[in-house]
Parts: sequence; C-alpha cells; structure tokens
Amino acid sequence: MEISVFGLGYVGCVSLGCLAKNGHHVTGVDVSAFKVELVNRGKPTILEKDIDAIFKEGYEKGRISATMSAADAVKNTELSIICVGTPSSPHGHLNLSYIYKTAEQIGEALRAKDSFHTVVIRSTVLPGTNQKIGEIIEEFSGKKRGEHFSVVSNPEFLREGSAVKDYYHPAVTVIGGDHEGALEKVVSLYTSLDAPIEITDIKIAELIKYVNNTYHALKITFANEVGNICKSLDIDSHKVMELFCKDTHLNISPAYFKPGFAYGGSCLPKDLKGLVTLGHDNYVQTPVLGCIEGSNEHQKKVAYELVAKTGKRNICFIGLSFKEGTDDLRYSPSVDLAETLIGKGYHIRIFDENVRLSKLIGANEAFINERLPHLSELIVADVEDAIRNADVVIVNHRTFDAASYLQLLAEKAAVVDLVRIPELEQLPNYEGLCW
Ligand SMILES: NC(=O)c1ccc[n+]([C@@H]2O[C@H](COP(=O)([O-])OP(=O)(O)OC[C@H]3O[C@@H](n4cnc5c(N)ncnc54)[C@H](O)[C@@H]3O)[C@@H](O)[C@H]2O)c1
Repeated sequence: MEISVFGLGYVGCVSLGCLAKNGHHVTGVDVSAFKVELVNRGKPTILEKDIDAIFKEGYEKGRISATMSAADAVKNTELSIICVGTPSSPHGHLNLSYIYKTAEQIGEALRAKDSFHTVVIRSTVLPGTNQKIGEIIEEFSGKKRGEHFSVVSNPEFLREGSAVKDYYHPAVTVIGGDHEGALEKVVSLYTSLDAPIEITDIKIAELIKYVNNTYHALKITFANEVGNICKSLDIDSHKVMELFCKDTHLNISPAYFKPGFAYGGSCLPKDLKGLVTLGHDNYVQTPVLGCIEGSNEHQKKVAYELVAKTGKRNICFIGLSFKEGTDDLRYSPSVDLAETLIGKGYHIRIFDENVRLSKLIGANEAFINERLPHLSELIVADVEDAIRNADVVIVNHRTFDAASYLQLLAEKAAVVDLVRIPELEQLPNYEGLCW
C-alpha cells in the first residue's frame, strides 16, 4: 500500500520503518527539514534498538522517503497516518494545534484528489478529536466524510526504548472507525502481527490509551508507596511485589476491574486502613493509598445523587449486603447509602433474601438488630411487594431475577442499577451507576 506518515518523531519514525519492512511504500511528512533530510538519506530520526537496520533495508528497497509537502504526500498515497505530537498545555489540557494543522493540510490536499482517502489517527487524542478532524477535513477539502474520506482511530501503545519490539508485539491492536472500507484497509496493516485486532467505537479507541497510561502511572505509584512502607519496616519490597504479581486470579487479572459501586465488606476497608496507618506510624507518606477511601466514599455519593435527582422519596433496595451470596452487612456501601437516604427523610424498603434468612435463623441477627435496628425493620419478605410500593428501585445484587419484573420496573420513576444487569438496560427509566 502507498502510505503517508505525518510526524517523524518516535511514533512516526517507528511506524514508517516497520510499515516499510512489511512491504509498504511509505512517505514521511514533517515540518522539520532536518528530519525529512535524514529519512531521505535512509536514516531514522530517533535512537531506538533495531530501527537503523529497518530503515537501511527499507531505504535500499526504495520503500522509504520523506517530504515537507503534505499535498504531495496525500496525492501519492491512499492512507495517511497522523503521528504528530499532542503535548500538554501549561494547564494540563491537550494541545491539539499540531493535529488540527495536519488535518487542515490533509483537507487542502484532498481538494485536488478524486480517489477515496483514509486518515488514521495514531497520536494520543481525547474522545471527540476524530469527529473534529473529520469536520476540519470536510471544511478544507469541500468533500464529505464517509463518501470521499474517512477518519479512523488507531492508538499507538509502543514504549520508547523497546519501540520496535512493541510495534511488532502489541498486546492488542485497537481500531475505531465508521467506514467499513477504511476499517478493512487499516486492519490489513496489522494482520501480520501476532495480536488480536479489536474493532470498536471511535470514542472507545480514543479513550483507551489514556486509561492504559493512567493505570500504568497508578501501578508505578502504588508499587513505590508499598516499597516505601516496606523499606521503613526493613522488608524486601521487590520480594513483596514479586509475590503480589504471582496472584493472577485476583491481583494481575480482570478481577475488580468492572466499573460499579463502592467496595465494602469486612476486609477491604479494614486492611486498606491498616496499611495506610502502618505507613503513617512509620513516618511514610502514602498519597495514593491514602486517597483510595475518599474515592470509595465519593462513589456512594454518586449513587445517592442518582436517586436524589429523581425527586422521588419512596425507595426500594434489592440487595443490601456488600455483595450477593452473603448476608454480611459490615461496611456494606448499600447500608451507608440507605442510612444517608433515611437521614434525608426518604422512605426505604429493603429486599435481601440472605439478610432476611439470617435474621430468621439468627446467623447475623445480633449484628443486624444491635447495629442496624432501624434497617432491620425495613426488610421485607417479598421482592414484588417491595418494587410495587416504591417509586425508585436500587438494584445492588446481580442475582436479582430482573427479567421477571421488567413490566413492573418500567412503571417506576427510575431503576438505579449499581451492578449492571443487562436485562435492565432496555428499560426507559434505567439509570446505570457509571455506564
Ligand atoms: N513517544 C511515545 O512513546 C509514544 C507512544 C505512544 C503514543 N504516543 C503519542 O504519539 C504522538 C506522537 O508522539 P511522539 O513522541 O512521536 O512525538 P514527537 O514530538 O517525537 O514527534 C512529533 C513530530 O511531529 C512533527 N510535526 C508537528 N506538526 C507537524 C505537521 N503539521 N506536519 C508534519 N509533522 C508535524 C514534529 O516536527 C515532530 O517531528 C503523541 O500524541 C504521543 O502522545 C507517543
């Protein structure tokens, strides 16, 4: 394929070299005459393992060249990959001026082109940028998105220092677009890689890179804070984290990664507090660990606000324990939510089969009666009755047989789902907690 790559920095240089190695003819475009000249001599613009040899081979096979003319590059290629920089502004916003300028140049060049052109955004950009780039290209080309050109989002996940290896061995290739032909073209660039190709919504493709990198930053700071606590106690932090990583069921795994309601129960809140206090007692600051509890409390507030905004005051809870399958009410975030609502004068009914049974058989009875007598009186035995008498239904357990009550639920002012039950999402009055 004839491809143009806009921006000859880390991402552009690696893309150009690796695409040429895969047999494509690639033209680099940059505003820097120096970088363009380097490429036209068969030299990469960055220092990176293996990139020199890749460039040499591509250059000798006549597959690599560069220009400062966006018009020439677009005219002679069918697909343009945007890899220009997207630095932070002094206030932390994204500076998209290079991206927009590139879109203008591609637009102007497309004015004089008859064939369909595919534009790929490889730079890291926030959701909505793909749409905006399409609008700029439409404005400057006088052509129509979807008819004469398409814009596809395809974030780059490489790391400097292992960029070529990362290019050839990504964990996943993410492609977001709205034009089948353009998507097929972009997919064809990566079919030789041994990695799954995920075609998804444009905005998901745009956001994922931010979520990935934010998580990487969180991992690093988490490990560092654990390290600081370990050092204060003369414990080998690397051995601790090595062991931590061996748990691929709960630690390094998809477990706990579904957006939802606050954590609770008898272990997580207590053990987090224990570790943070241990650090504090040893004069170790733990800003990341220390703000976890605040974030968890905030999630309860988010749930409360969803209920409050309905303006209704008759509320029913389906599930009160901190998760389904247990009657444990200790530190259940739903108990906190119920107490907040009661404190603000809401009328509450609670259906929780396990809590009701344990009250009957005495398993959890003492705790419920002593600590939560006010809630104890609100527990009802019949779920249908609970729903019928409420204006707003809060669903907190995945075991709820939602399909059997859809008609009744549809009559309510709102169904607030804290756990994401697929059957409920079709309701017109549905309100997902954070989805
Ligand atoms: N560096 C990384 O490790 C990495 C990894 C993944 C994603 N990214 C993302 O990829 C994008 C590029 O990053 P980078 O590190 O390669 O940037 P970079 O600063 O190294 O390179 C950007 C290049 O774009 C050129 N440029 C600017 N305006 C241009 C224009 N109008 N036309 C042509 N060229 C133009 C600049 O001269 C420069 O050579 C950023 O959004 C970045 O966040 C970077």
